[in-house]
Amino acid sequence: MARKVRLGMIGIGAFANTHLKGALQCENAELVALADADETRLHQYDDKYHLGHLDHYTNYHDMLARDDIEGVIVVTNDQSHRQPTVDALMAGKHVLCEKPMALSMDDCRAMIEAEKKSGKKLMVGQIGRYTTSFNDAIRLIEDGEIGEIFFVESEYAHDYSQIPGSTGWRKTPERHAIIGGGCHAVDLLRRIAGNPTEISAFANHKVLTDWPVDDCTVAIMKFPNNVIGKVFCSIGCKRSYTMRTCVYGTKGTLIFNSSSIEMYKDHFTDSPLYDKLYGNKAQHTVKIPVPTGHNDHNTKGEIGDFCDSIINDTSFPCTGIEGAVTAYACMAIVESARTGEKVIMNYDFM
Ligand SMILES: NC(=O)c1ccc[n+]([C@@H]2O[C@H](COP(=O)([O-])OP(=O)(O)OC[C@H]3O[C@@H](n4cnc5c(N)ncnc54)[C@H](O)[C@@H]3O)[C@@H](O)[C@H]2O)c1
Repeated sequence: MARKVRLGMIGIGAFANTHLKGALQCENAELVALADADETRLHQYDDKYHLGHLDHYTNYHDMLARDDIEGVIVVTNDQSHRQPTVDALMAGKHVLCEKPMALSMDDCRAMIEAEKKSGKKLMVGQIGRYTTSFNDAIRLIEDGEIGEIFFVESEYAHDYSQIPGSTGWRKTPERHAIIGGGCHAVDLLRRIAGNPTEISAFANHKVLTDWPVDDCTVAIMKFPNNVIGKVFCSIGCKRSYTMRTCVYGTKGTLIFNSSSIEMYKDHFTDSPLYDKLYGNKAQHTVKIPVPTGHNDHNTKGEIGDFCDSIINDTSFPCTGIEGAVTAYACMAIVESARTGEKVIMNYDFM
């Protein structure tokens, strides 16, 4: 029988629902224990997912003291990723930590340090890496379908007015939306265009006026190979959630979100109508819909990969360093919007 990785989970709040669903569907995972400082939250999914038989801990250190747990999933609020992650690594567990890796580079560095010291592996849950349409679009780019990329843009538009987090943690000064939510769009652009080298950003605050952070941010970025890009992040906008992304290449354009992909390419036609209008073999751009899947928040794929990498001793798809680069780029956006100065990126922690 295939080996299963025995897992514990820290932080049984709202998003733990999605992680529990994913973990329970994974053939290479066996969830054995849950931990949350809040006793009510700790038990909130017991009936829904029949978890009564698992061990429950209000102090996660008691769970980490067990020898039979190999991997830990950290789903605590953004401000509380560092300590459980460091403690779990130092207790000899591999860790899958929710995005954003952390809200400060001090925290990211401490987590990377603990990974090195412990010899265990840290994965950051940038879940967009498991979205089928994003991966299909990236494959088309890598296959050269749209030629050489010159401009990339992605947006994270998500109305947060009703989701401050169980203790209001999203509505705090240190939890800037571009780090907590916009990291999905930044991570996606990094996968397509590489690590940004320069960032300039602007922000305003007109919708969620009782929140302590800017609710709209735009960042312009320079990437390697003279690619330029833009990220838009709004947490107050009145529209349905989207991560609409456009990638412009010398031979075509891709416009995609988490459920669809459209490709635009030049087409040469000899249709009589175009002949008449534009002359022989007229060139025009055609839209080519590309079939793809829809699986936002694919925790089954993410946890499955986490366990596979543990079983086969391979590198995680989104390592601690990868998570830190995305977090750092987001922090640079906040910094540039605050100071009005361009940030030249310095990846000295890699
Ligand atoms: N990948 C995604 O698309 C996505 C979507 C939603 C949330 N998230 C992330 O998931 C994480 C959790 O978000 P949420 O909405 O579930 O938050 P939440 O507030 O509903 O839950 C967090 C839980 O962590 C517990 N907790 C915090 N510190 C703890 C500690 N030291 N020991 C034990 N328990 C502790 C709290 O008691 C709470 O139950 C956040 O980092 C968030 O950004 C990711």
